[in-house]
Amino acid sequence: MANDWTPQSWKAHEARHLPRYEDAAALDRVEQTLSTFPPLVFAGEARALKAELAKVSAGRGFLLQGGDCAESFAEFHPDNIRDTFRVLLQMAVVMTFGSKQPVVKVGRMAGQFAKPRSADTETIDGVTLPSYFGDIVNGIEFSPEQRYNDPQRMLQAYSQSAATLNLLRAFASGGYANLRQVHKWTLDHIGSSPWAQKFAETADRIGEALDFMAACGVEPNSVPQLQGTSFYTSHEALLLPWEQALTRQDSLTGDWYDCSAHMLWIGDRTRFENSAHVEFLRGIGNPIGIKCGPSLTPDALLAMLDRLNPTFEPGRMTLIARFGFDKVETGLPPLVRAVQASGHPVLWSCDPMHGNVIKTDSGIKTRPFERIRAEVEGFFAVHRAEGTHAGGIHLEMTGRDVTECTGGAVDITAEGLAECYDTHCDPRLNAAQSIEIAFEIAEMLNKEVAERG
Ligand code: TRP
Ligand code: MN
Repeated sequence: MANDWTPQSWKAHEARHLPRYEDAAALDRVEQTLSTFPPLVFAGEARALKAELAKVSAGRGFLLQGGDCAESFAEFHPDNIRDTFRVLLQMAVVMTFGSKQPVVKVGRMAGQFAKPRSADTETIDGVTLPSYFGDIVNGIEFSPEQRYNDPQRMLQAYSQSAATLNLLRAFASGGYANLRQVHKWTLDHIGSSPWAQKFAETADRIGEALDFMAACGVEPNSVPQLQGTSFYTSHEALLLPWEQALTRQDSLTGDWYDCSAHMLWIGDRTRFENSAHVEFLRGIGNPIGIKCGPSLTPDALLAMLDRLNPTFEPGRMTLIARFGFDKVETGLPPLVRAVQASGHPVLWSCDPMHGNVIKTDSGIKTRPFERIRAEVEGFFAVHRAEGTHAGGIHLEMTGRDVTECTGGAVDITAEGLAECYDTHCDPRLNAAQSIEIAFEIAEMLNKEVAERG
């Protein structure tokens, strides 16, 4: 266990991007309450995920991580949870079938509520209020009532996370994710996309393979691996009072785990030297992600790996590259080489979302599908050149039929964005665009596996 670390040792370090709570006593009471609540996940599950990620970092398998940019209280609905889970299943099946590699499934779900803001406050027409920090802190509407940083919101976030996780667990192991159901996962609104046809063909071939295996005596009834899947949760570890309150000592090992999610990542803006967020993550046993962008130097990355994973534990570290389609091929190789030379075992994943945001002429934030695809291609090209494994994808996506990213086979135009633009934060891929990128990743992965032999 890390030296001198306690769940609150982060308080002696520099904490950026934390909201200011006016009522310290109210914050204290909420933290007390949360610390008596049941953990949302169990330490053994975080260890199981770490073991799966360790295999991927050793070159076998692929990490699929996806979900909302920010979950909201308003969009909390079983249909939304089901639709996002269903697209993730479809993507996983496409990638597993296409590459013949296992896919580790992790949702940006059941806890992705807090957003880092560049300024504490926002001023509109001479009125200054706290910035919107995500539904776990305050409301998005620009009014004094909504923009009040209210610790009580953490209790609602807990209840929403618990209910979301409960449904995800039920779907993953209760029959919905049974491979025999693969045809039923088809979404109505990918019906118009050319990829719907391709998905139906994949589903047919899986059905045939299952029929054949059944004739040989191997059936979902007798093989648990065919009946369901493992599904894990993750979010950015940003709101440290919340993360601390859900951190527990595992009764089996004595180690500390942040039981708010299986996996936590640290954002680009909170990973500086002497950061409170790094200090907090250092002491928990969960798998950890680091967002790696153009401003990260190889030396800073190695220093962070030494700090967060001093024992070189495989599966502990996932490095999530987010460079932008035009920077990945120059920016990523120096980091990959430095990590290779250090001997740190890491899983390299690609976030093709955050470096590819543009504004349309009418001022709407979007991400062109072509740029997202180009960054994924660049990411694979870098790893092919360096002889390392392109190990994962990190997407902001939803199962709903939104129009937030332009392009793709569904060909959303800049004018069409207004039709269903619902995000609480960044633009997300819709269901059809998510399936499309999954097919393309499957092909790239297949090529990598074939070349490797
Ligand atoms: N259990 C296996 C896996 O998770 C196979 C599987 C079952 C599966 N249901 C699935 C794969 C749904 C993808 C999607 O990989
Ligand atoms: Mn985002």
